Parts: sequence; structure tokens; C-alpha cells
Amino acid sequence: MEEAIESSLKEWQKIEPPEEFVKKANMNDPDIYDMAEKDYERFWEGIAENIDWYSKWKSVLEWEPPHARWFIEGKLNASYNCLDRHIDSRGDKTAIIWEGEKGDIRKYTYRQLLDATSRFANSLKDMGVKKGDIVTIYLPMIPEAVIAMLACARIGAPHSVVFAGFSADALAQRIENSRSKFLITCDGYLRRGKEIPHKKRADEGVSRVDTVDKVIVVRHTGSDVPMSKQRDVWWHEVMDSASTGCDPEIMDSEDMLFLMYTSGTTGKPKGVVHTTGGYMVGTHITTNWVFDIKEDDIYWCTADVGWITGHSYIVYGPLSNGATILIYEGAPDYPERDRFWDIVERHKVTIFYTAPTAIRAFMRWGEDIPAKHDLSTLRLLGTVGEPINPRAWLWYYENIGNKRCPVVDTWWQTETGMIMITPLPGITPLKPGSATRPFPGIKAKVLDDEGNEVSQGHGGYLALTRPWPSMIRTVYKNEQRFIDTYWSKWDIDTYMSEDGARRDEDSYFWILGRVDDVIKVAGHRLGTMEIESTLVSHPEVAEAAVVGKKDEVKGEVIVAYVTLAERISESDNLMSDLVDHVADEIGPIARPAHIFFTDELPKTRSGKIMRRILKSIADGEDVGDITTLQNPEIVEELKRKVDESG
Ligand code: PRX
Repeated sequence: MEEAIESSLKEWQKIEPPEEFVKKANMNDPDIYDMAEKDYERFWEGIAENIDWYSKWKSVLEWEPPHARWFIEGKLNASYNCLDRHIDSRGDKTAIIWEGEKGDIRKYTYRQLLDATSRFANSLKDMGVKKGDIVTIYLPMIPEAVIAMLACARIGAPHSVVFAGFSADALAQRIENSRSKFLITCDGYLRRGKEIPHKKRADEGVSRVDTVDKVIVVRHTGSDVPMSKQRDVWWHEVMDSASTGCDPEIMDSEDMLFLMYTSGTTGKPKGVVHTTGGYMVGTHITTNWVFDIKEDDIYWCTADVGWITGHSYIVYGPLSNGATILIYEGAPDYPERDRFWDIVERHKVTIFYTAPTAIRAFMRWGEDIPAKHDLSTLRLLGTVGEPINPRAWLWYYENIGNKRCPVVDTWWQTETGMIMITPLPGITPLKPGSATRPFPGIKAKVLDDEGNEVSQGHGGYLALTRPWPSMIRTVYKNEQRFIDTYWSKWDIDTYMSEDGARRDEDSYFWILGRVDDVIKVAGHRLGTMEIESTLVSHPEVAEAAVVGKKDEVKGEVIVAYVTLAERISESDNLMSDLVDHVADEIGPIARPAHIFFTDELPKTRSGKIMRRILKSIADGEDVGDITTLQNPEIVEELKRKVDESG
């Protein structure tokens, strides 16, 4: 098997798009790149025609670095674009196929989705939600999450979706920052057959802030949950009494569509602000060209709606294209490891978009598992979230796509809103492991510290050197952080992605991963500082340093080095306490895989913790030069501890 893949890697330096695919592809004109390059504003102006506007823009772009405003004075509504405009031609077409973990299935046609969205939008209004109010959505993968997002968009209330796997504290932090008065949540949800008491967590979160007036609770599992009399209302009850039909609010192109909190280098997650016009234009066209969405496709993106991928490529991109989307509530290995392929077969999925970490898990489980299923309906595969190693790419291409389906490796970020570097499946020859080239109109470069382009084959920072419609507008209530994080490394008009990259002889991009203190655990983005401050908030911890350790399946796992407070001695109990503490404070995804107790952390003479060294120790790699440390002896000791732990 290994050998077969190795030889395939050599054989398939480049995989040309299949002829049949090219013929029918939504975008198959290679000149599109040159056209966009000639005048990118004109290019985006043409693309914007794919969205319905109440009134058109007066000009395409105002670029006062680092602030861009797109489609100036254009008026539109995102929910109108995802729903109303399809009703005449696709009213009875299935918009959502939902499958619960237990195997229960619910479907919504576009007409039903519009009806539910309008009712819920009216319910929100009845409760006092006004244009501009931020509504927090804390829901698992159920259709109500999509309905709630679209209802917010309909009435011009920006949503802030918090991943359901996050803890009460993480929820509270996000509500606090956005000063959100409304929360939408549910009783509970299933994960590997076990019910997660979600309402309880939501209640805990709400009790830590003083802003929330109303909590709307979806009855999903049917379990008993305490309802606070004044504050809590049932979703189905408000829906029953809500009037049908709700005129979409006419929004300015630059009105905020949503906030999405994401991790960065410093302690607290930042609220990435996305606005309406540019975001809809960008997600619509990338969905159309990258995923080649057609009328009869069944499209399944396995991401959670709580992440940007769910926003752009479950909700706004696909629905604005009138696609049929599939949403699955549960785990990929429940009840068995073939659950995903069973879903693909039963629902005849044609387009499948997932993360490398999932692919590596499937690979480990073995190719016999997908082989038991008929996957012949698939015609396009995608990946996102972290670098995909060529081996995993090829495994995916061969075992899931049967060498028929192009694999689109799509690089982008919460901040970019839309896919930025990607093959266009009807044009671009593929190379396993490369995200290939920037989407038409996008300009990306690999720069060194001084802002010079590095030569071919060498690593540098991935930078974006031209504005794009769905770009982050600011960090909510923290303009300075917006400028400092993204626009201060080089000139103010050059966006720092915080990713490393290199380009090859064909100018293809190869993403090397984060260069800041962000780690990617199974594709989830976490700040090491967030985890460190959580550890330090434990009364028995004096100091902590967190790094990502390479992991074959998850990409990275969390390793924490911890110094204990005076007179506290290490024990297995304390170790598991600390692991639970992190899971409680942030969420299970932030659970450290290893904790090492140490009397000291390696520090420079100026007292800075050397995380680079700690990472090398965790990865079992050479630690390099340690002569600048004030305590070089600690390195050997830590190496020994890590070695002994196996
Ligand atoms: O490091 C890059 C990695 O994911 C980061 C963005 O994470 P997030 O904002 O959570 O958004 C994830 C979904 C868009 C990037 O800075 N990343 C994303 N896609 C890829 C990737 N790394 C390599 N290849 C990709 N295709």
C-alpha cells in the first residue's frame, strides 16, 4: 500500500482535469485569470451581477488601506438571495436534507425554508430584535441553525454563531464581547449516542454575563430542561404564533452580516466582522466555480455551522446558488466507521467537502470501509482547514473519488470569508498537496520579513496584496488589533495571513501551516495563549506554555508544559484535573493530549518563554541553538521527560 502510494506520487506529478468534467464545468475558460488580472475591479463588478440587488452599487471599491468598502451604496439582503429569489424556479426543490445521528431524516424545500425563516424572523422581531442587534446562535448541526442565521440576515440583525462544542465560558466570553441580548440554543444533542446537555451549558454561559434578555430554545432531543420564566421561550411556541411572510430588510452592502470569533496570537478570540455585499458575491461565485454546483447536485460539506466553513460553504454560498445541501448531526464513526459513506450512498451525494484530519482518520481505518459502499454518485471532492499531505490527498482521490473526481484543496481563513487559493476543477491541473493558485482576481505572494518576494522553492509568509470582496472589515470593537494583526508586517495595503507558504516551478502554492501561535487540532483553530491562560487560571498552576505537536491524524495535538505553584506537587490526579479544566473552560477540542510538569520553562535571558524549543522537544526533533537561554539545562530534563512518556 505504502509503496503503491509512493509510486503514484511520482507518476502523478500533475493530474489533468477529466475531459468530461471540463466540458460541463461551470468555469472552464482558462482566460478567466488574465481577464480578472487586467482589471480586477471590473472583474468583481461582473461577478456581482450574480447576486440580486435592490439597487446597484455606485462604485465597485473604495480602498483606503487597510479599509475596503465594496459595492458602495449597493442594497441587498442575504436571505433574499438564499431563498426568495429561488422560489419561482426552485420552490419545490429540496434545499436541506438533514440526517440526525440516530438516522432520522428531515427535509426542507426552498419554499419551506423560506416559510420557516420568515416565521422565525417575525418571532425575533416580536421579541424586540432590531436591525443591528447582534444575536448569538449556539446550536448544533440541526436545520434550525441555518434557519436562525437566515432569519437574522433577513431582519438585518448580525449573527454571532458560537460552535456548539465550546464551553459555557467560551460562550460567555463571546456574548460579553458582542453585548448580545438574544441567544438561540437547544435542549441537547447527540454525540456518539450520548446526549450532550446543551441547554445547561447555555444557561451557565448566560449566567456569567449581564446582557442576555431572551433565550430561544429549540426542542431537539425532547429532554426535560429548566426554563427560566421571564427569559426563556420555546422555538416551536414562538414559531406557532408567528405570522408568515416577512419582508427582507434592505441592507447596505457594507452593513454587517455576521461576526465570527476566531483564535489568534493573543489571549482572547477576536470578532471577525463580515459585511453583506462583498461576502455574498465572494461566497456565491467560489461555490459556483470551485464546487461546480449544478442544479441536480447533492452537496455535502461536513464542517460545523459554528465555523466559517459552515457559514460560507454550508449556508450562504450553496443556498445563494440554489443548491441542495446535506447536513449531518453526528460523528463520522457512529454507529460504525462507515457512517459518512453510508450517507453518501443513501443520499446520492455528488460533491463532498471535508477536512484533511477526517481523511487521515478514514485512511487509518482502512480502504475496505468506503469500498463497501457505492460512492459512484460522487463527482467532486474538496478539502479545507489545514495542509493536506500528498499521501492523504491521493488516498482520498483513489479510495473515495475512484480517480474520477477532481480534488479541490481550498486555502482560506475566517478572515478571508471565501476560498482564496484553489484549483478550478474544470481548468487547473492538480498536484497532490498543493492548493495550486489564487482564485481569479486574488493576488497572493510569498514574502520574506522585509516584504520581498522569495524565490521559487523557498518558504516565506503568505501575503495577499490586493483587496477582495469578502475580506474581514475589522475586528469587532478592536480596530487596533485589526491593523496590528493583519496589516502591520509590511506596507499597510498588504495582508499578512499568518501562514507560511512556498511556490514551485509552476508557481503553484504549497501552504506550510501557521507561523503564529495558532494551532490546528483536527482542523479546529485554537490559540496557544488561550489555552495557557486557562491553565494559569487554575489555582495550582504558576506558569504554562502550550505548543502543537505533530500528529498523524489530527495534524496537531496540544502539549502543555506546566510549572506548579509553590508547595504543590505533581500527581496524576492533578494532571487529569488540568485536562478537564481546559475542556470545561474552552471546550473538549482544547483538551491537552500531554501535560508535562516542570520546575522551570526554558527562557531567554530577557525572560521570554522559548516555545520553539518546547515544540521541538514535543516533536522529538533537534532543539537547535540553546545557548541564548538563561536555563539551558532544563532542555535536557524536558527531553528526558517527553522521551519517557513515550
Ligand atoms: O493555516 C491555515 C489553515 O487554516 C487557517 C484558517 O483557519 P480558520 O480561520 O479556522 O478557517 C478554516 C477554514 C477556512 C489558515 O490560516 N488552512 C485552511 N485551509 C487550508 C489551510 N492550510 C493548508 N491548506 C488549506 N487548504
